[in-house]
Amino acid sequence: MEYAKEIKAALTIPVMVTGGFRTVLIMNDALSLSATDLIGMGRPFIIDPAFPKALLVGEIESAPAIEQTFPESENLPRGAVLNWFCYQLTQLGEHSTVDLNADVQQGHQRYLASIELQTNKLLKIRG
Ligand SMILES: Cc1cc2nc3c(=O)[nH]c(=O)nc-3n(C[C@H](O)[C@H](O)[C@H](O)COP(=O)(O)O)c2cc1C
Repeated sequence: MEYAKEIKAALTIPVMVTGGFRTVLIMNDALSLSATDLIGMGRPFIIDPAFPKALLVGEIESAPAIEQTFPESENLPRGAVLNWFCYQLTQLGEHSTVDLNADVQQGHQRYLASIELQTNKLLKIRG
């Protein structure tokens, strides 16, 4: 937030900080400290694209934070968490819903398999 504050003070355009925002309390703190004009979020949208409305009307106090239930990243293959979220994006695209039954390893493996499949399809088309 200190870093964002300095950036914001040096700019005349709006600043959006993204990364780890989950609770309304912390979001409001960041806004009231004038550290950012906008709160950016990434992973919560993948789990539930409708969550901001519930957050804004006070139905929930925190954005979805499923990654907090995952094993420590040093105990997972490199890129597994990101790949798990990418797998969920492919599920949203293909089935309009996420697959929260898949654990990190499963999501990771399935995403790698889907990339391989798509790559092979492209290579076939290119001949
Ligand atoms: C599936 C996925 C893809 C992402 N792709 C990009 C990207 O292309 N460029 C980028 O700057 N950040 C990318 N990010 C990082 C997000 O923009 C964001 O900084 C990060 O998820 C931290 O915010 P969060 O804690 O709200 O998720 C990606 C994150 C995820 C989960």
